[in-house]
Amino acid sequence: MTPLGVGLVGCGTISTVYLRNAAGFDSLRVVACSDADRAAAERTAVTHGLAACTTEELMRRDDVDIVLCLTPPDWHADVALQAIAAGKHVYTEKPLATSLDDGRRVIAEALEAGRLVGAAPDTFLGAGLETVHAALDGGAIGAPAVAETHLLAGPPEDWHPSPAFLYAERSGPLLDLGPYAITSAVALLGPVRRVTALATRPRETGTIESGPRAGTSFPIAEPTRVSRAGARVPPRMTPGVPPGLRVGEIAWPRRHTSRRYLAPWVAASRQRAPLRSPFAESSRAHR
Ligand SMILES: NC(=O)c1ccc[n+]([C@@H]2O[C@H](COP(=O)([O-])OP(=O)(O)OC[C@H]3O[C@@H](n4cnc5c(N)ncnc54)[C@H](O)[C@@H]3O)[C@@H](O)[C@H]2O)c1
Repeated sequence: MTPLGVGLVGCGTISTVYLRNAAGFDSLRVVACSDADRAAAERTAVTHGLAACTTEELMRRDDVDIVLCLTPPDWHADVALQAIAAGKHVYTEKPLATSLDDGRRVIAEALEAGRLVGAAPDTFLGAGLETVHAALDGGAIGAPAVAETHLLAGPPEDWHPSPAFLYAERSGPLLDLGPYAITSAVALLGPVRRVTALATRPRETGTIESGPRAGTSFPIAEPTRVSRAGARVPPRMTPGVPPGLRVGEIAWPRRHTSRRYLAPWVAASRQRAPLRSPFAESSRAHR
């Protein structure tokens, strides 16, 4: 099989994970990289044996079949649209776009151009959620009445060296973590028909806790806690019984509360349930 050529746009924190894992796929070969910060692209190129170029040059390369977009979220739709216009397929980090209109435009242009668009997260393909899928398909609980998800993470300024973009406008935990919960629920129950939500922004600034800029403050523009969001989805199994999806909480609690708050969830996640999907044991081993 001739591997597809991948052009990476955005050589930041998560790019190292992609580049490490891409080496395990015979079907892909990362060939080139670009970054708004030219020096970051040069460093990545040298470390991984890639060609460093501008994003415009990357889009014009004949050996790039797929553009992999790992920029901050407000660039995802722009990069995807540029790639589609250049005749490339796209895989982008989440979210697909930061507005519904932009997301729809990316999909419409890709359909028109006959290009494929993929977006993170792919975690619904993992052993845990595949096991839930198999249980639902097998009728283990009958027609699901409600699914509830909770995503409570320590705030990203604890570990990310430049976390400001995660708190900027049209960002925050809803767009950063929400895609994990919502993608899982949609994969299990079906597309969403109607949404209601409550959100709060209990703090207006954060402070970087790690890396060379530790101690620097940044503004928090978006709510950091979204709770009691509810969605109605079309019936999955029994006609006439639309299941509800309740997002119990998606939040980045303040650092000192997060440990106390998260402890019971961390303990619960360590309990091992039997997994049934075919790749369950291997994916568990890689956790
Ligand atoms: N860091 C993680 O653990 C993690 C995990 C899952 C998903 N993600 C997602 O991956 C994406 C990137 O996150 P990150 O943590 O790597 O961010 P980062 O800030 O560490 O890196 C982003 C890189 O993109 C570059 N960039 C910014 N605008 C650009 C543009 N217009 N064109 C080209 N390059 C540009 C920046 O210079 C930087 O090098 C985000 O959407 C994030 O939600 C990150």
